[in-house]
Amino acid sequence: MDPYRLPRVVIPTRYDIRLEPDLTTLTFRGEETIAVSIEEPVGEVVLNAVELAIDEAVVVDGRGREQRAIVRLDEAAERCHLTFAEPLATGSGRLRLSFRGTLNDKLRGFYRSVYKDPGGVTRTMAATQFEATDARRALPCWDEPAFKAVFSVTLAIDPALTAVSNTRVLSEVSEGDRKVVRFADTITMSTYLLAFVVGELEHTEPSRVGDTPLSVWCVPGKRRLAAFGQEIAVASLRYFEDYYGLPYPGDKLDLLAIPDFAAGAMENLGAITFRETALLVDEQAASHAELQRVADVVAHENAHMWFGDLVTMSWWNGIWLNEAFATFMEMLAVDAWKPRWQRWVAFGVSRAAALTVDGLHSTRPIEFPVRAPREADAMFDVLTYEKGASVLRMLEQYLGPEVFRQGVRDYLRAHQYANADTGDLWAALGQASGQPIPAVMDAWIFAPGYPLVSVGVEGDEIVLRQQRFAYLPAPLRWWGAGPAASAGSGRWQVPVQLRVTAGGRDTVERVLLAEPEIRRPLPAGFESVVANEGGHGFYRVRYDDGLRARLLGRLPTLGAIERFNLVNDAWAVTVAGLMPATDYLELTARFRDERDKNVWSVLLGSFHALNRLVTPADRPKLEALVRDRVAPALAALGWTPQPGEDELTRQLRGDLIRALGTLGNDAEVQARTVGLYADHERGTATVDPNVLPALIAVLAHAGDEGRYHEFFERFRTARTPQEEQRYLYALTAFRQFPLVEQTLARTVNGEIRTQDAPFVVRTLLMLVHAREPAWDFVKKQWDTMDRLYPKHGLRRMAEGVIGLATPELEADVHRFFQERRVDLGGKTLEQYLEQLRVAVTLRERDGAALSAYLARF
Ligand code: BES
Ligand code: ZN
Repeated sequence: MDPYRLPRVVIPTRYDIRLEPDLTTLTFRGEETIAVSIEEPVGEVVLNAVELAIDEAVVVDGRGREQRAIVRLDEAAERCHLTFAEPLATGSGRLRLSFRGTLNDKLRGFYRSVYKDPGGVTRTMAATQFEATDARRALPCWDEPAFKAVFSVTLAIDPALTAVSNTRVLSEVSEGDRKVVRFADTITMSTYLLAFVVGELEHTEPSRVGDTPLSVWCVPGKRRLAAFGQEIAVASLRYFEDYYGLPYPGDKLDLLAIPDFAAGAMENLGAITFRETALLVDEQAASHAELQRVADVVAHENAHMWFGDLVTMSWWNGIWLNEAFATFMEMLAVDAWKPRWQRWVAFGVSRAAALTVDGLHSTRPIEFPVRAPREADAMFDVLTYEKGASVLRMLEQYLGPEVFRQGVRDYLRAHQYANADTGDLWAALGQASGQPIPAVMDAWIFAPGYPLVSVGVEGDEIVLRQQRFAYLPAPLRWWGAGPAASAGSGRWQVPVQLRVTAGGRDTVERVLLAEPEIRRPLPAGFESVVANEGGHGFYRVRYDDGLRARLLGRLPTLGAIERFNLVNDAWAVTVAGLMPATDYLELTARFRDERDKNVWSVLLGSFHALNRLVTPADRPKLEALVRDRVAPALAALGWTPQPGEDELTRQLRGDLIRALGTLGNDAEVQARTVGLYADHERGTATVDPNVLPALIAVLAHAGDEGRYHEFFERFRTARTPQEEQRYLYALTAFRQFPLVEQTLARTVNGEIRTQDAPFVVRTLLMLVHAREPAWDFVKKQWDTMDRLYPKHGLRRMAEGVIGLATPELEADVHRFFQERRVDLGGKTLEQYLEQLRVAVTLRERDGAALSAYLARF
């Protein structure tokens, strides 16, 4: 028997819950009556509970007989066992429980969040975060996604406060010194989607989408930052009702910004919670990247109202059905809302992140066995989200968007208010398309890795071959290596779209590369071939030298995603040792005229990676190379926006200034930044919101102690969540050792919220000037961080070790994790260590050649 799965002999159908949180004592009391179906005459009922005291449990069984239970809590298993003197008669029964708990500060379960009101006074509110397995910290319940039930929630609160839950308020009455708020019944749904928020909350004027009122909620004083989030919330909800062909399943929709929030946002039905940066924004003062972030997160959570909330995966191994779909739908909705943002081109960056992790031997298939809660937590990674969404995009393009949508609609209709598995989705898509979906799709979901498609000209043929892509020749051997690294068949059915240019004409051909190799005749007047036409495929392409040269000679004829993939795949092939690093650097010289921000982000990303592994002596030369590549593009764009210029170009300007002023260490850019920022502060210059964040980063990179204190104050007194983030991350960029030390100290002393601190440390670990002190600090403070940070914190922070790309640091990283027997859940740590190995291998293999190449700068 799996100790992490509850027996299915007593099944909940309805919960009537009353909770009484006390924000002064930071505790809560609760009572619940759970209607259950007793399937067999059992003497014991097992449900989930953790860090709760259960004062009383009484059952009424199928024959109406009442019994008190003996309650035993098993904290390790996160369960409570109720035992009865007499076996329960089958039929419909009721369970009544009274319990108590604390409003914790770990941002999980029922927790407290602290913030300053506009007068600077510290205030407390209460909120919930239940996914994946923390509903059991707020109430005893059958805390598995397949135990769907109806929830009726009542919150008894301080009359000065406001309460929000998943549904509309039915009544509000005063009882003694409490205000008692009763909410309408929810739809039949999973426990992890329940939410309660209690505090001094403000909300916007509701918008209406059909019959659904939609509002944004925040702590007092921030309502002026709600309009943009509300706008995309309305637009995306409309979009989804239309796409899914089903009405929004709730009776109202509230979006709530919570000052302390572990994840980015959470799709509680009707009461979506967000960290403030992901919902509240000043549209006039924000950069394109900051606005896109808000639009993305809002659209993503709204997409979940159907994918996740209405139809839910049966178990956590299928979480991709939630998260990959929400991510895919987020792109569709944002793209429909702001076509000028070219959201699918920017998605290349996400796809690239998935290709990176999935190129490791320690990767995992998208669907992967899950038992314990920490394994469920480890599923929320780039493979679930970004690989999953990439694979869906590839399938959508392969089947055609209309056919794909029809399959999705059928799937949702067939499984609404219930649970589903990947096979159910395949069945619906198979019906809609008439295609053998499992044959095409199973390897993408159930096997690890992805193909490298090699394209070459041999004689009078174009030859395509597939093999699994891997950065390292063999799996990493290390002390914690799990069962033999994930091996797949190494063969996929790859939907390849070829664009062949011959005699000045383009022809697009779709082929399903199902065999190790296929051949196509070379047409007369052959000029060039693009293998991943349109760029939607989840695979890499390696062109032979001749074909690559032809493409580099005609870059302007390629789409932005195609140029993105060309650079990204060339870099990956270089890191894997299949192309000399110096050839890659030569290739980057062909992109000085590039104007797409995403293509630039791959180029800049590779320069950052190189900066982490070149010797200190070569670093100034790498800076010169960066200036050589980037400066012409900025010179062409200029420092001030042209009238009518789109937001992508404006964002690119900011990105280039930042790169030149930091990685390029460009003295001229740094000097100009000082002047411009000073003028901006004095109000004598208006700086584009896309440029301002870059100026802050450049000033920090070249800044001294005075500037550090100035920026720390700006962080503390920021007027928007985005401004707060800009100044917070700027603190990581100051290069003097004592300033690095100050920032590190602030990650554990309460000055930086625990929701942000792990990410700040991760950033420091990835920066050459800070990584060694940061690593020393992490080693010393590991236990403290483990105690302070929310549960995903250490996992996110530890990703920074990838930046410790020297053989000595790598050895030390292994030593530390081995001694401490660190487990970050799933394959997380293995993947970080393998990425570190990949970087050090590149250094060892190509270091001398790189050094010789850089000598010319
Ligand atoms: N369901 C997740 C929130 C979540 C993440 C819960 C991890 C438990 C563990 C939510 O829908 C989500 O995916 N949020 C993302 C943002 C999104 C735009 C990718 C997040 O929190 O980063
Ligand atoms: Zn999600």
